[in-house]
Amino acid sequence: MNICEELAIDKPIIQAPMAGVQDWRLAAAVSNAGGLGSIPCGMLAAEQLVEHLHSFNKHSSHSYNVNFFCHDMPMPDESTLEEWLAMLLPYYEEFEVEVPKGLTGLRLPFDDSFADILEEFKPPVVSFHFGLPAADLLDRVKSWGSKVLSSATTAEEGVWLEDNGADIVIAQGLEAGGHRGMFLRTDLNQQLDTAELLTQLKESISLPIVAAGGINKHSDIVAMMDLGASAVQLGTAYLLCEEARTSIVHRAAIKQGTAKTALTNVFSGRLARGVSNRAMKELSFISQLAPEFPYASIALAPLRAAAEKRGRNDFTPMWAGSHYATCREISAGELTRQLWPE
Ligand SMILES: Cc1cc2nc3c(=O)[nH]c(=O)nc-3n(C[C@H](O)[C@H](O)[C@H](O)COP(=O)(O)O)c2cc1C
Repeated sequence: MNICEELAIDKPIIQAPMAGVQDWRLAAAVSNAGGLGSIPCGMLAAEQLVEHLHSFNKHSSHSYNVNFFCHDMPMPDESTLEEWLAMLLPYYEEFEVEVPKGLTGLRLPFDDSFADILEEFKPPVVSFHFGLPAADLLDRVKSWGSKVLSSATTAEEGVWLEDNGADIVIAQGLEAGGHRGMFLRTDLNQQLDTAELLTQLKESISLPIVAAGGINKHSDIVAMMDLGASAVQLGTAYLLCEEARTSIVHRAAIKQGTAKTALTNVFSGRLARGVSNRAMKELSFISQLAPEFPYASIALAPLRAAAEKRGRNDFTPMWAGSHYATCREISAGELTRQLWPE
């Protein structure tokens, strides 16, 4: 069975799930054009998840993917959090916002309560970031027939995913926008670009591989397939689509296309690639002081809101891949059709 049959799609294109910048609308537009639309669920509450799944199914009868994070949830380290907040005090003063209190609005890992909801909808595809959920939870997802995908950022992670029940592995190269899916090691020196990672994974695993990172046009897709990819996953290319919910400041930075992207942990506590901005530069991109994922996000959220009200992107995580300057304002359906013409 080839990957299109396995995922029930016409084109070997997966629209990457992008929490915070899109919902079921982008997913439905891509699925209706023959690709695999993805609904990012990592930042949704249970009621929102149900709403998104109903809305997708109302607007598309095609195959789709739902995406979750499956990170460990460490106990919050109060003293690191306090130090981080204290260091940010001048910014809270500058933007006249309260120092945040409490642990609300965190990204939560996939658990049985999410699985209870999925069981009702039986999505054709479920993808995970940061590894896979525990074996019993994964068995539940597979029991209703969903195909399971997860990202590998090294050959070692690909082997782990194959051994632990993934059906398809996403090769997430260093060019990729958003959080790096790395889950076995934190050493950046072992991270590879998409072509090199794909080549190493081809030699290490027998599962189908989806290439992700820096892919923006048809010829990029052909090049990845020549290297052995069965399909591709693109996120950044869809950021300017009218169906995406990319914020005004994020869109503006992408359209301007001048600032470089970089890896940073200051927004969430984990490494992610985005367009460089004030928070990344002034908090030194990869900070040893940042609280562990997902707790770091609490501190910058009110600053982001206050800065965006002033039309500034100072504290907005503007996730984007390193090749973002080629993004176009185009409908998601048209982009999907251009990426893989009949
Ligand atoms: C704005 C943005 C948000 C992202 N959010 C998620 C997410 O919620 N879940 C996930 O698995 N991957 C996420 N990613 C990473 C993508 O799955 C994928 O690896 C990446 O988009 C591929 O590289 P590209 O952006 O160069 O196309 C995100 C990427 C971007 C650009």
